[in-house]
Amino acid sequence: MTKWLSQRALQLKPSATLAISAKEKELKSKGIDVIGFGAGEPDFPTPAHIREAAKQSIERGETFYTPVGGTPELKKAIVHRISQDYQLSYEPEEILVSCGAKHSLYNIFQAILDPGDEVLVFAPFWVSYPEMIALSGGVPVLIPSQEKDFFLPDGARVEAAITRRTKAMIINSPSNPTGILYPQETLHQLAGLAEKHDLLVISDEIYDKLIYDDAKFRPFPSIPGMKDRSILVNGVSKTYAMTGFRIGYLATTNRLIVKAATDLQSQSTSNPSNPAQAASIEALQGPQNEVEVMRKIFEQRRNLMFNLINETDGLSALKPQGAFYAFVNVSALAGKNGITDSGDVAKYLLERHHVACVPGGPFGSNEHIRLSFATSEEKISEGMARIQKACRDLK
Ligand SMILES: Cc1ncc(COP(=O)(O)O)c(C=O)c1O
Repeated sequence: MTKWLSQRALQLKPSATLAISAKEKELKSKGIDVIGFGAGEPDFPTPAHIREAAKQSIERGETFYTPVGGTPELKKAIVHRISQDYQLSYEPEEILVSCGAKHSLYNIFQAILDPGDEVLVFAPFWVSYPEMIALSGGVPVLIPSQEKDFFLPDGARVEAAITRRTKAMIINSPSNPTGILYPQETLHQLAGLAEKHDLLVISDEIYDKLIYDDAKFRPFPSIPGMKDRSILVNGVSKTYAMTGFRIGYLATTNRLIVKAATDLQSQSTSNPSNPAQAASIEALQGPQNEVEVMRKIFEQRRNLMFNLINETDGLSALKPQGAFYAFVNVSALAGKNGITDSGDVAKYLLERHHVACVPGGPFGSNEHIRLSFATSEEKISEGMARIQKACRDLK
């Protein structure tokens, strides 16, 4: 019976990525040996010095509420990290700490959108953006891109989608799901449009430390003229293998947005977990060498997976320049064994060959599947061997 449910709840799509993880766990609990390429989280243990900081925080009795928007020490640590890495300066008052970057984004959309306000979302996009925008009463305006253009947004197309209701655009570079890093030229082009049409730019930089082949990451607020019209979003989940700690943040010079988002948080979750904040201070201020160790391992895994994908008949992918995903074109498999789209491919791979991956539909492309290489080289080799067999078996 749905009569008790709101329209909001009825229209909501659950996160496709978390749904795949749940299905994978269910099969594993039945004793089935599933190779998981669905994960959106590092498989490394959280570095020991960070775990230790969490323990010490509990021992010190930091088991109570903190200020709603995060402790002053953590805000300072965030400001320190951003300034150290990118020579970008923020004040602690320009930071809000939330329960993960996902929560920061949710707070932002709740704080800035009125019913009917539009947000430009570049496809392929992270599954949660359109849903979060819609939950806030806004309208996600999805702007397609071409694989041959490295999935980069096309300036003319973006400009054509801007209306008087357009309030913001969201950028995610390096991107989940494509692993593409926006070149400077694209960032400048988007900055020009933001300036011209007076738009806010939300820059989700959660994968900023996972960059390969010596490519250089540039935070969006560092583009000249952009600092005051951007909201930088980041967190400790991916960089420090801390997904379960649930700490993310936003940084913006627009203190009214910080206040509105903080007030929203005060009426929903209150502060993020106190010991998790202490652990995050250590992550951001302590030694950074393990970040590079993990990044290098991800790069090796990326190379392995990328080579195996492109030597498989029926599959192709662009080389991911960041994050830990390959967005694999499976359109050549359509028409075989009743396969029509990426959902069928993901189902076939999971049920018949015991490899979990995420279909591309919820990311904005039905011709792709997303494979995560946040798993060991051994599992990548075994999983890709299964996928190669799966492709050969299709008639
Ligand atoms: C693009 C992107 N943004 C934000 C997040 C949220 O990260 P968290 O809430 O763990 O900080 C994720 C996690 O998968 C992501 O892929």
